[in-house]
Amino acid sequence: MLRVTLFFLSLTFSWAAYAASPSILYLTWTDDPTTTMTIQWHSDKDDEKSEVLFRQAGKKEWKSKEGVFNALHSTDYLAHTVELDQLKPGTDYEFMFPGKKKTYKFRTMPEDLDRPVRFAIGGDAYYYLNIFRRMCAQVAAQDPDFVVVGGDIAYTNGRRSVFQTQNWEINRWRTFLHEWKVQMVTKDGRLIPLLPVVGNHDVKGSQLDPFKNQMYFYEIFTFPKKNIPYRSLDFGSYLSLTLLDTGHTYPINGKQTDWLANTLAERENFSYKFAAYHVGAYPSVYPYAGAVPRKIRGNWCPIFEQYHLNGAFEHHSHTFKRTHPIKQEKVDPNGVVYFGDGSWGVSPRKVKNADMWYMSTSARENAVFIITLDEHMGAVEALSIDGKVIDTAVTYPSSNLVSFDESRLLR
Ligand SMILES: [Fe+2]
Repeated sequence: MLRVTLFFLSLTFSWAAYAASPSILYLTWTDDPTTTMTIQWHSDKDDEKSEVLFRQAGKKEWKSKEGVFNALHSTDYLAHTVELDQLKPGTDYEFMFPGKKKTYKFRTMPEDLDRPVRFAIGGDAYYYLNIFRRMCAQVAAQDPDFVVVGGDIAYTNGRRSVFQTQNWEINRWRTFLHEWKVQMVTKDGRLIPLLPVVGNHDVKGSQLDPFKNQMYFYEIFTFPKKNIPYRSLDFGSYLSLTLLDTGHTYPINGKQTDWLANTLAERENFSYKFAAYHVGAYPSVYPYAGAVPRKIRGNWCPIFEQYHLNGAFEHHSHTFKRTHPIKQEKVDPNGVVYFGDGSWGVSPRKVKNADMWYMSTSARENAVFIITLDEHMGAVEALSIDGKVIDTAVTYPSSNLVSFDESRLLR
């Protein structure tokens, strides 16, 4: 009898330890991806301990690092953030929460391209849970080092009022983040870091007051500078990623454009340079003459062209697209190619701009891009929801020249 009781007690304790592991847990970078990792999780409001135990895989001793937390307004939840630093590049690590059994894995990025680096970019993510989930499985199966989500992450602004039940905004964010925790894990158990980009469905207007701006975007995600979503992330000297705000919190022109020009000037000698943002300069569905596309073309595209960006990733139209290389709003082999167009977890739309001068290929498809870089070339593949590669482009280090595998094009 005693043995049976002990058995059930041990089951209860191990279940309690497991259940108490955070159901919302996500990784990102606000600093050097070769030597840091930012760990974020949610807890109930009475659990204010922001502490993580971590160690290099294969080592015995756990080290402790404490961080900070902030309340998620109008909820009973806290969002915790711990940044681990002084890590070794290209190295596997484990972490856990004090008093909990479950351990998690992550990997720092290599200092140089001594192994191929692979990442994913896709946007317009969690609209329909089943589509989002199916595409997540395809992306995770590619074993990416990290993933950029190009805006309209959980669709918490602009939904029809019929969907707006109590706490629906935070519930949608938590559903997205929980799915991310479950789905975005590689075969060997490594958590895949998330780099968020702001979209029109993530924030309300350009107000930063979280109580007016009931969107949680700036309470859930952390950035190198507080509440500023446009930023660049440098990986050794082989990759620089520039993530921008197409006017959802900060205007396109003015400060952000000045920052972009300085940022790309400072990174001129990086092997690969990519940008990602939400609304497209060369849209597949929305009008070419729209105010936002015109602003992007007027302010950012000349800078992309000057510094020979290897590619720009756009979203918001809910299709797949790849443009011709473009310079000064004309097709030019020395121009920049624009990939898109935001169809991770939405119903794909009919392409309206297939016959526009700038469009090379496009389709009504759910797609996310998988980018694989080595010392000699970078492949940009569009992955469909069925796991098929529906388009391949190749770009080269220190050059914006892009070539295409015409045999694999859709049309
Ligand atoms: Fe959008």
